[in-house]
Amino acid sequence: MNELKGKKILITGGTGSLGQALTKRLLGEKVNEIRIFSRNENKQVMMQSELNEDRLRFLIGDIRDLSRIQRAVEDVDIVFHAAALKHVPVIELNPFEGINTNVVGSRNVIESCIHEDVEVVVGIGTDKAVSPLNTYGATKLLMEKLFVTASNYVNKERHRTKFISLRYGNVLGSSGSVIPKFISQIKAKQKITITDPTMTRFSITMDEALNFILESAMTGKGSEVFVPKLRAFTIETVKEALQELLENTGEIRVPVRQGEKYHETLINLDEMRTTIETDSKYVILQKVPTDDEIKTYSAGRKTSLTKSYSSDSVKMITKDELKKLIVQSKLV
Ligand SMILES: NC(=O)c1ccc[n+]([C@@H]2O[C@H](COP(=O)([O-])OP(=O)(O)OC[C@H]3O[C@@H](n4cnc5c(N)ncnc54)[C@H](OP(=O)(O)O)[C@@H]3O)[C@@H](O)[C@H]2O)c1
Repeated sequence: MNELKGKKILITGGTGSLGQALTKRLLGEKVNEIRIFSRNENKQVMMQSELNEDRLRFLIGDIRDLSRIQRAVEDVDIVFHAAALKHVPVIELNPFEGINTNVVGSRNVIESCIHEDVEVVVGIGTDKAVSPLNTYGATKLLMEKLFVTASNYVNKERHRTKFISLRYGNVLGSSGSVIPKFISQIKAKQKITITDPTMTRFSITMDEALNFILESAMTGKGSEVFVPKLRAFTIETVKEALQELLENTGEIRVPVRQGEKYHETLINLDEMRTTIETDSKYVILQKVPTDDEIKTYSAGRKTSLTKSYSSDSVKMITKDELKKLIVQSKLV
């Protein structure tokens, strides 16, 4: 696949933070149709009235329901699979629900896409899936595994479907993440709740995430996990940046949440053997690539990583840089 022009696209979780931003970006391309698939009708009605676009179709449905998602992908060329339950503490308390949506739902998306001969299917994954500590991460690891092994179910003579999966870290300002949480605490004149100021998280802006998602969809050959090269911030930096941009309402220490890591990992040591890199990203393959296979990725080379790619091992975003990103992303 090398262009979006004329394509019919389905976004599962199209009303979420990523889904809405992706929809707006795709509307700027000459796509034929974008189907938004999610459960909550109110979110869809609000999105419909905000965007008011003929190329949008709003479909109520649950990815747990195979027949519904199968109908939704009829005639579709590209699927971005973003629907998920993603709040770590919620899934710790409701693990069966996490499994039903993130694992069984993803399986339904995959089966439907093979059946309907969709061209490319992109699974939106997370760093929390790497050596997972919490149930959310474990469910997203399974989602990723289902995506990179889905080609085993594709009869190449009858179907063309390519599946790729992506992994990245915190999308700056996305729903439920640390920045909107601190902003709402400050605006309510409350103290910011800090677990450990030295905790680190990989960071990506929504625009960077969209570029990465679209580029991966265009260039993926199938069965890869794509990982962008990212920087990280400490929680202390987030706190200081927001206190300077808004107000210092103080802070209180709270215990580290169940299932929360101090540092996140995007690629673990064992995955290095099958990982190659380009200037902007890493590509995790399903087996050790030959030199010829490496060359098929533009500017591809063996990775120079020698230890796990974790958020305490990269260059930290400074307070001033973060302030700039927060303002540019219109979060305050
Ligand atoms: N945000 C981040 O920092 C981040 C980082 C890495 C990866 N990711 C991944 O990126 C994806 C999108 O994240 P986001 O921040 O946009 O999440 P979000 O804002 O919570 O949106 C989730 C979307 O999924 C839909 N959804 C949930 N359960 C569903 C179901 N059973 N059937 C159909 N739709 C369902 C929701 O709508 P309804 O509730 O109306 O169904 C909503 O549209 C997720 O897969 C997440 O794991 C996010």
